[in-house]
Amino acid sequence: MGRIIAIVNQKGGVGKTTTAVNLAAALSIAEKPTLLIDSDPQANSTRALGFDDDLERASLYDALMGAATLDEVRMPVDALPSLSLIPSDRNLIGAEVELVGAEGREFRLRALLEAYARPFETALIDCPPSLGLLTVNALAAADAVLIPVQCEYLALEGVSQLMDTIQRIRKSLNPGLEIQGFVMTMYDDRVNLSRQVVEEVRTVFKEQVYETLIPRNVRLGEAPSHGKSIFLYDIRSRGAEAYLSFAEEFLRHEEKSIGQRTEQPDTGSAGRQADTPGRAGGDPGPTPEPGH
Ligand SMILES: Nc1ncnc2c1ncn2[C@@H]1O[C@H](COP(=O)(O)OP(=O)(O)OP(=O)(O)O)[C@@H](O)[C@H]1O
Ligand SMILES: [Mg+2]
Repeated sequence: MGRIIAIVNQKGGVGKTTTAVNLAAALSIAEKPTLLIDSDPQANSTRALGFDDDLERASLYDALMGAATLDEVRMPVDALPSLSLIPSDRNLIGAEVELVGAEGREFRLRALLEAYARPFETALIDCPPSLGLLTVNALAAADAVLIPVQCEYLALEGVSQLMDTIQRIRKSLNPGLEIQGFVMTMYDDRVNLSRQVVEEVRTVFKEQVYETLIPRNVRLGEAPSHGKSIFLYDIRSRGAEAYLSFAEEFLRHEEKSIGQRTEQPDTGSAGRQADTPGRAGGDPGPTPEPGH
């Protein structure tokens, strides 16, 4: 099985879906077998890849409820042969409620991924803007968390709560959960605040923050309504350029972190557990997970 990366921030509208869709597209353009799991009832990733709302189509909801496997739900994405999508729909709202009290409810997605037959190098999970059961399932299934942070006032608000949640997940459900990185989104170099926010986030999270800054770019905002990734919509845009360079940095980071794991086979999940977090809120602490 490949690496599973949950794209998480419980704050709404910070660029989770834009990052999930365009990173998935960039990886598949590089011919890396990629799986994009839309775990948000808003189904924005699903629509951004050109699929209409269709409550009849099998979705992640059916899989989480035990009525289908991921193979049965999987959809190929036109024009991106290396990409598969596990679509979402509004039914997924019900999953949070219907799974309350169900045994192993936090591990549904992990079990589905373990049974998924197709090889993938990277699976990206686009999470909803909450820390509810769908996000907990993603965090329990993931090897690492990618956190988009919007360049805006109070950008770090909520990140410390997210760090606490990740720490709790490590203690209870997934001891090996790593921080893959922080990616700064909607950066505007004409605005001092944008620069200050990047500086602030780098002060706290050091080299865990990606060097590539995703600019605020109108084309990135337009592409989803055309059902296309930025690369099909406008390959020459600054947004396309940024997500390509982010994908390159992402791949370098993934290679590095895989390299480190093979060099230190004895650290195991317990060793990784000690490595990060809980360090939002002003106490950066050591950053043992070297960056990008
Ligand atoms: N770099 C960018 N430049 C311009 N617009 C952007 C950029 N990134 C995202 N947007 C737009 O901002 C809005 C929010 O982005 P997106 O949907 O990716 O955030 P999200 O974190 O997934 O939101 P939610 O929490 O609701 O799932 C969307 O309309 C999107 O098209
Ligand atoms: Mg979203």
